[in-house]
Formats: sequence, structure tokens, C-alpha cells
Amino acid sequence: MNSFEISKKTARLVVLQRIEIANSLQKYFRKLFGRYIFTNIITKFFLSTQEVSNKYFKIMSDEFLTIKDCIKEDNKNFLSIGGGVGGLEAIVNSNFNDINFYFIERNFVSNKIKYGWGGLLNSEAYNDVLEQKNFLLNNSINNSQINIFDFDNDQLPKLKFDIIVSLLSLDYHYDFNIYEKYLREVSTPKTKIIFDTIRADYFDKIFNNVKILDSQVNTVHKSKRILCSDFKDKL
Ligand SMILES: C[S@@+](CC[C@H](N)C(=O)[O-])C[C@H]1O[C@@H](n2cnc3c(N)ncnc32)[C@H](O)[C@@H]1O
Repeated sequence: MNSFEISKKTARLVVLQRIEIANSLQKYFRKLFGRYIFTNIITKFFLSTQEVSNKYFKIMSDEFLTIKDCIKEDNKNFLSIGGGVGGLEAIVNSNFNDINFYFIERNFVSNKIKYGWGGLLNSEAYNDVLEQKNFLLNNSINNSQINIFDFDNDQLPKLKFDIIVSLLSLDYHYDFNIYEKYLREVSTPKTKIIFDTIRADYFDKIFNNVKILDSQVNTVHKSKRILCSDFKDKL
């Protein structure tokens, strides 16, 4: 696999989820006409699906390299929080056998997406769970491996996960606190939890083990990708 099978509708979602995929003309239009026109018109009618597919594949392949060594052959239950359409998981699936993927996502696209910090309000989203399912099926994940949950409407899965991954989502756009109680319930001391944050030090108070996997110095957010495990008891 060296590019993704992607529909036009999914390409639009991917550009909203990974704004770095937009080309310079699209970014210029975003500046000129604003976020509403960009979200609802430019991304719907002025995208090259092939270009988006190629760029998305490259970005997800690079992201995979940052987490690859954390996944062990016996890790079977994988939870993705805010995984977008799931390009990363499609690549994980092509490198590892028999993983059950659980996705928690949202099923709407905000009208005027703001990519900042939403804290506990967490009102922004840019996904469509039907498109996500089609994308995963079209990129070689079997139906039996796919379990998608809508954060706003579904009861979240209650099992112990081996690995939990949230890139540019949990504690990057919204507060970790929204998920803390749930993550305590679905993890064991061995569960590996990987996410991006601008306050890595804060997590020394929450987990017994925190390791920095990667640092982004050239982005607005200047975030760190951290690998955490073993929740500390609550005070
Ligand atoms: C910036 S995108 C990143 C997508 C993907 N992780 C990636 O790296 O390409 C953030 C994603 O988080 C999702 N999201 C927002 N709030 C969420 C929540 N409370 N739970 C799960 N996903 C959420 C959005 O719909 C969006 O798909």
C-alpha cells in the first residue's frame, strides 16, 4: 500500500482534519474568504482527491513511525480517540495482524472550524462515521475488526485496551479531563496511552510513567507526543 483509496467526500474530511494537506491556493482562499466558505465550499468543490490521498498517506506513514515501537505483536485491542477517518489505523493494520480497532469519534462537521484549544467545551468536530467506515473498509480493514462509537450519542466501549492513541485530538484540542474517568476504566497498568499535548509535565501527576516520543517545535501548538501508562491513584 502506498496511497489510500479515498472518496471525494472523505477527501474533504481529511483536509479539515489535517489542514496541512490544503495546498497554498486553498489556504489563500481560506484567508481571503474565511473559515465558513473554506469549510463548506472550497473543501467540497475545489480539491484533488488524488493529491489529498497521496499527502494523507505520506503524513500518516510518518505518524506511524512515531508510535510503531509502542505496538507489540500481542496488542490486540486498539482504541483510537479522534482518529479522523482512520488513515493511521489503516497503516497499523497493514503492519500488524488481527487487531480489533475501536474508534471514538464525532459525527458532524462544525460550520466554521476553529483549530484552537476548546478545553472542556469541546465543540469542534470534523468527521462522519459512515465515511470513516467506508474509508476503513476500502483500505483493507475487515468489517469484523471495525467498531465505531459516536462520542455524543453512543455508550462507549467497556473493555480493557492494550493501546490507546489520539493524535492531534485529546488534550490537543480539548481537555484530557473529558476522558480521564473513562480511560481509567478501560485501561490496565500496562495499557499504553499516546496523545499530543502542550503540557507534558502535567501528566507526571496523572500517570506513573510518562515518556516523550516526539516534539513539534515548528507548529503553532508546539506540542509533544507522549506515551503514558499506569494511572496514579486519585488524591
Ligand atoms: C485535528 S483532527 C485529528 C484527526 C486524526 N487524529 C489525525 O491525526 O489526522 C481531530 C479529530 O478529533 C475529533 N474529535 C473532536 N472532539 C472529539 C471527542 N470529544 N472525542 C473524539 N473525537 C473528537 C474530530 O472530529 C477530528 O476528527
